[in-house]
Amino acid sequence: MTVEPGKRVIKAQAQETAQEIAQAIEAAAACLAAGGLVAFPTETVYGLGADAGNGEAIARLYAAKGRPSFNPLIAHVADVAAARRLARFDAAAERLAAAFWPGPLTLVLPKRPDCGVADLALAGLDSVAVRVPAHPIAHALLAAFNGPVVAPSANRSGHVSPTSAAHVLADLRGRIDMVIDAGPCAVGVESTIVACLGAPTLLRPGGLPREQIERVLGQPLAMAAMVDDAPLAPGMLSSHYAPKARLRLDADAARPDEALLAFGPAPAAGITLNLSPRGDLIEAAANLFSHLRALDASGAQRIAVMKVPHEGLGEAINDRLTRAAAPRIG
Ligand code: TXA
Ligand code: MG
Repeated sequence: MTVEPGKRVIKAQAQETAQEIAQAIEAAAACLAAGGLVAFPTETVYGLGADAGNGEAIARLYAAKGRPSFNPLIAHVADVAAARRLARFDAAAERLAAAFWPGPLTLVLPKRPDCGVADLALAGLDSVAVRVPAHPIAHALLAAFNGPVVAPSANRSGHVSPTSAAHVLADLRGRIDMVIDAGPCAVGVESTIVACLGAPTLLRPGGLPREQIERVLGQPLAMAAMVDDAPLAPGMLSSHYAPKARLRLDADAARPDEALLAFGPAPAAGITLNLSPRGDLIEAAANLFSHLRALDASGAQRIAVMKVPHEGLGEAINDRLTRAAAPRIG
């Protein structure tokens, strides 16, 4: 096993001994537990992992990928028992998990309230995408970390998914803490995503063919169009969190009938939650969805939102705030 300082590439390939691989896995699990970003192989593509419960680590993950918006992330777990702690399975989900896990299938399911996955990773949604990867290194890492790991494909936003550690480094060198190099991925395309939130629906074709899924279900899958890597079917699957309260953006202060979502130094009055008193965009991203939910739950009819600078993660924060402020249809 080699840990190369500076590059921080950990090798976990056939020529390494079992003990060397075990040490690499331990180092990677410790890095995740410390809030680090670890790229690791799955049977589909390399993922960029972070502790699913650590909002700030997840904010750094979005920053490393250079994502202009917060797409919800897949929570990776070691086995079905761990998946059940995150989400509720209906009969179709039970069948699919039994037939295809571990493997290249992601299920979008109703999340449990105590699932422990940070609101930012779920982009504020009430559903969670769960996957049990089949790759032995991914499995060993998830078992050693002993908790859910969120992982998008380990590429810069807009680039194709990486199927080798070299691809990961070409995109993300210097932006992440560690890469576990276990050679090329066997499947090479991302997992197939099926939502079980009602009629089972194909959200993304991928490594598991649709026909195999339909054979197990004994019925055709409904289809949801995807645009820009995000589901496009707002009626069927609300892909964007929307608070009940009306949002007023770029506010300097709250009016008497408003709660305040602050950023940086803020006027102290009324119901206020601050995304980041010190004006840190990573901290602000980590707090975005939980603060919006908390202000919504306070019963406020209107929320004034202070200006967030449009740089770094601020672009994604403003993207989500603008969507949340958009008028509702119906
Ligand atoms: O094979 C894979 O799935 C790889 C490996 C690393 O596991 N991961 C991957 O993640 O492709 P990512 O983030 O590149 O793509 C995940 C997709 C996104 O299009 C996201 O919008 C969708 O899953 N997604 C995640 N949670 C969702 C949810 N609750 N509802 C609908 N779509 C969701
Ligand atoms: Mg991707």
